[in-house]
Amino acid sequence: MLDLRGRVAVVTGGAGGIGLAMGRAFTAEGMRVVLADVEEPALSKAAAELGVPGVVADVTSEASMRELAARVYDTYGAVHVLCNNAGVGPAAAPPLWEQEIGDWRWGLDVNVVGVLHGLRAFLPRMIASGEPGHVVNTASGNGGIAPIPSAAVYAVTKAAVVTLSECLYGQLAAATSDIGVSVLFPGPHMLRTGIFTAERNRPRRYARTEPGPAARTADEVAEAMRAHGLEPEFTPVEEVAGQVVDGVRAGRFWILPPSARTDDTIRARAESMRARSAPTYLR
Ligand SMILES: NC(=O)c1ccc[n+]([C@@H]2O[C@H](COP(=O)([O-])OP(=O)(O)OC[C@H]3O[C@@H](n4cnc5c(N)ncnc54)[C@H](O)[C@@H]3O)[C@@H](O)[C@H]2O)c1
Repeated sequence: MLDLRGRVAVVTGGAGGIGLAMGRAFTAEGMRVVLADVEEPALSKAAAELGVPGVVADVTSEASMRELAARVYDTYGAVHVLCNNAGVGPAAAPPLWEQEIGDWRWGLDVNVVGVLHGLRAFLPRMIASGEPGHVVNTASGNGGIAPIPSAAVYAVTKAAVVTLSECLYGQLAAATSDIGVSVLFPGPHMLRTGIFTAERNRPRRYARTEPGPAARTADEVAEAMRAHGLEPEFTPVEEVAGQVVDGVRAGRFWILPPSARTDDTIRARAESMRARSAPTYLR
């Protein structure tokens, strides 16, 4: 059991959505929290709300993540919980062979390389400290459990986060470090966060050559689902943050929602592989 009180947590993508909810939950546990994000105005507001430092840091930049680590170690002298949570979801698009390469590069750089930058900037010092610690990498049911083919970039990146986390778990265990790992699957339903308008954070270097589909808020996505006869459901961010706190404290690797639908998908995919049958579990 990791005792959280007084420990230091760093959350990337901490300016809003799930990251901010984690920041709130960690603060409520008596942790010292640092929020990091690229979205400055939202970050300042979030940091002020929690009364914690908010550091502008871009997970796609190794230098920026090293600066973040330097700032946190200068301030607190330690990091115990690292949440690699920043993520973007390039809007669903045509078949993946037609999806713009800027979409692929942006998604891979934030969602996968961003996690690596977090690990490279913080883990060596976390291990060297000899203190107990924990890494939480945010994946998604889409790709992490089974892909949604219409959101291929996102699914590919989140599948990578799961495999990366499994490898990390094995390597840290082999190194007999006291650092645990969790991979987080927020859900089982979508969360009403800024992920649906992630385009607001797309840097020019990943620009599309053709305009992409118009960004829609979570509520607009829900409205479109209703128009197709589907009743959208949302999972509250607080529920996910609570699972993170419990998971970190208990050293739980899979932070999966307690949901029969999730269990069914896991079973269906594993069974399809075992039976060498077609992937009929795809949505
Ligand atoms: N919302 C959902 O339904 C859902 C479901 C499963 C997984 N997730 C994952 O949860 C995580 C958090 O997303 P969210 O839903 O809270 O969305 P969000 O957009 O509210 O939060 C993501 C945060 O990441 C930040 N960010 C984007 N690019 C960045 C960069 N280069 N460097 C640093 N920060 C950057 C954004 O500014 C934003 O504050 C993501 O990894 C996302 O993929 C979300």
